[in-house]
Amino acid sequence: MSDKSYSGVVEKAREYYNSDDADNFYYDVWGGEDIHIGLYQGPEDPIRAASQRTVEKMDSCLSNLGKDSKVLDAGAGFGGAARYLAKKYGCQVVALNLSEKQNERDRQMNKEQGLDHLIDVVDGDFENLPYEDNAFDVVWSEDSFLHSGNRQKVMQELYRVLKKGGELIFTDPMQSPDAQKKDLQPVLDRIHLETMGSFEFYKKAAKDLGMEVVQILDLSHQLPEHYSRVAAELKEKTAKMSHISKEYVDRMLQGLAHWVEAGKKGALNWGILHFRK
Ligand SMILES: C[S@@+](CC[C@H](N)C(=O)[O-])C[C@H]1O[C@@H](n2cnc3c(N)ncnc32)[C@H](O)[C@@H]1O
Repeated sequence: MSDKSYSGVVEKAREYYNSDDADNFYYDVWGGEDIHIGLYQGPEDPIRAASQRTVEKMDSCLSNLGKDSKVLDAGAGFGGAARYLAKKYGCQVVALNLSEKQNERDRQMNKEQGLDHLIDVVDGDFENLPYEDNAFDVVWSEDSFLHSGNRQKVMQELYRVLKKGGELIFTDPMQSPDAQKKDLQPVLDRIHLETMGSFEFYKKAAKDLGMEVVQILDLSHQLPEHYSRVAAELKEKTAKMSHISKEYVDRMLQGLAHWVEAGKKGALNWGILHFRK
């Protein structure tokens, strides 16, 4: 475990993802490799295939990846995207992530898949990146910045470590410009934050830093689809699982219902944001 000290909001996210219940839930129910929103093509599409499709879609947006590339995955979870990119391109990937528990699983999978020479799993916080300026060709992230209490700082850090001409690509669950407080509040309460990012926020932050907007893909309809799939999977698997507490499962089902409801009401956005330095 880490001896690092983090700010209040970051420490809260760390404690949550390090808890046995959350670790087991994200590993055994959500998919183990990828724990972000998927791109669903039909009613029978499994969570894992849809989540992998998100990685493939993001990869297809990038123009500068190759064997010599250096990639940072900020908030890498179990490291599914890092393994995908390292396997496909033979590039060097830093999988920086807050949860030491997830990072242990990540390192284990990298070793099992013969990719540990390409992937450096780092315990850390994307609000304070332990890298020099201009260190990476690509900065990548999926569904992690929502946990930050200071997304402006996150954008500054990502920009700082990106090489000139480098690409920043990420997904994030965000609030929509028309979100009603009453629809958003249950979701914010669940992640213990006052706000979420938005397409506009990230676009402005990137432009203010001097980045070019390459593409913004609004895929918000996938958000309620994904969270309802996860809820259904959790209900189905709960009966067979004794290693996740009933209290956690009940709270998670309630939380997922809030995400689905807010998504269906148009209070939430999700998509792929792509910028160039
Ligand atoms: C929903 S998961 C997504 C994980 C991964 N990107 C994926 O798509 O599979 C959110 C992740 O953000 C990480 N995280 C949250 N706050 C962070 C921070 N300040 N610095 C680094 N990682 C963070 C958590 O450890 C968690 O793994």
